Amino acid sequence: MNRLNLVPYPKSVEIFDGTLDCKALRIAGDECFAVSDFVDKVKGMGAEISLADGVKIIYAVGDCEISDKEGYILRIGDGGIDIKALEQAGLSYAFCSLRQLLFNYAFKLPYCLIKDEPYLKHRGLLFDVGRYFYSKDDVLKIIDLCYLHRLNVMHWHLSEDQGWRIEIDKYPLLTQKGSARSHTNFGIKPHKGFYTKADVREIVAYANERNIQVIPEIDMPGHIQSALACYPHLGCFDRKLPVATHWGVKHDPLCAGKESVYEFVFDVLDEIIELFGENTKYVHLGGDEVFKRRWQICERCQAVIKKEGLENEEQLLGYFMRRVCKYITDKGYTPILWNGLDADIEVSDDAVWQFWGGEGENDNDAARSAKSEGRQIASDSEHTYLDFPYGKLSLRKAYSFNPLNKGVREEKLLGAEISLWTEYVPNFKTACARLLPRMCALSEALWLKGEKDYSDFERRLGYTVKYLNREGFKSRALKIANPSKVRGNLQNAWFNRRVLHWQGLHNLLDDAYVSRKFSKKSKTK
Ligand code: ACM
Ligand code: ZN
Repeated sequence: MNRLNLVPYPKSVEIFDGTLDCKALRIAGDECFAVSDFVDKVKGMGAEISLADGVKIIYAVGDCEISDKEGYILRIGDGGIDIKALEQAGLSYAFCSLRQLLFNYAFKLPYCLIKDEPYLKHRGLLFDVGRYFYSKDDVLKIIDLCYLHRLNVMHWHLSEDQGWRIEIDKYPLLTQKGSARSHTNFGIKPHKGFYTKADVREIVAYANERNIQVIPEIDMPGHIQSALACYPHLGCFDRKLPVATHWGVKHDPLCAGKESVYEFVFDVLDEIIELFGENTKYVHLGGDEVFKRRWQICERCQAVIKKEGLENEEQLLGYFMRRVCKYITDKGYTPILWNGLDADIEVSDDAVWQFWGGEGENDNDAARSAKSEGRQIASDSEHTYLDFPYGKLSLRKAYSFNPLNKGVREEKLLGAEISLWTEYVPNFKTACARLLPRMCALSEALWLKGEKDYSDFERRLGYTVKYLNREGFKSRALKIANPSKVRGNLQNAWFNRRVLHWQGLHNLLDDAYVSRKFSKKSKTK
């Protein structure tokens, strides 16, 4: 089959006889980001841009037969290049496609007609900067990668047991202290870093210019030891904990029984909302992997269970998330939550649920999916967690991702996310090696609906990888991305060994210590 060299592949392509020599270009239309960015990039590739000579690119925004605001029509023929889109977003994607075509065809473009629009409305990359901090410049490069892959969301995971990364004026310790850990999993080196409010504004503006919404995540009430390290009263027993050093979900959540905790959460969210501005419509509130042993022996948590007529700590989590979701919805924002909470517990009809449940089918996910009013984001770990080794999640497997394959409902589907968790991803170079080329495969699964031909994808990907390399994003070779069984199994064994390391043992010892110390204390009171 004769297909254009382009990833993600457009919705509809017709190819005609003839080629257009595009080494020299002249561009007619209103000035805008999409065009100035295109001009910068293609000049870097060796194109000549002039006012008088060369192939004429005419573009217009407004009247377009494609009604999706991210869609566009790109026509390449003997009269030149003609682009139409309803809005700037579509125009940007047209120029993204054009610059890749210029590279992939060495400036000799085939005559063609592309009519393109995305399958999913929400196409995201989750970027975890909690485990490891990435500099502002690295984040901007990640946004460049999202733009090239036609992703329109950066889900920014900003707080973790291992680090708090965003400046909050009312709680200065969060970044002064909570952004530094004394050492990391496998290193003896300290690690730290955070984003000032000015950094965040710059990052959000940079993303918005590229049709990317930045969605902040403050994960709560678990995954929060970095905040407890700064303000011990936020936990159940006012313990003095360090910012977590090692991998693994820690077992001390926020206390769900103290009003001062809700005040803290609302104050933080007020500043987040103010900071991210009107182009951000969602706030991710986490809600995943909340260990409830502390709540079981905390007098205050138990008092709320009693007062509210709740049956157990799982329902207490529902109560916590309900209060925080209401706070967000009252401000006109939509909360997003990780699913995991018992599907019988109602939280908020407006909340968007993000499904990440692991391998195999998950009954609770299926039940939540059937019951929830709100919309759904698919990010099943088996296909979209790019921190996994290639032995566990090969390029071929990533390409087979179907957002509906874990019980997510088509009628509620808002979109899907690719996830870069960073427990084992300490720097930008490793991030590229994890993301690329799997991000290319997943971006096509998010952009293009229906039957896919892996071998044709691999052929097109050859060009994309060269393009990414020249833009400074070094991809893993295809041979490594689809490893042999032996090599894959070795990678998996190494990965699993690292996961077991510390995660279990440290929490086990700490749980025993807390039960001994604090349940006795509450019994003798
Ligand atoms: C998750 O992987 N805990 C959302
Ligand atoms: Zn408590």
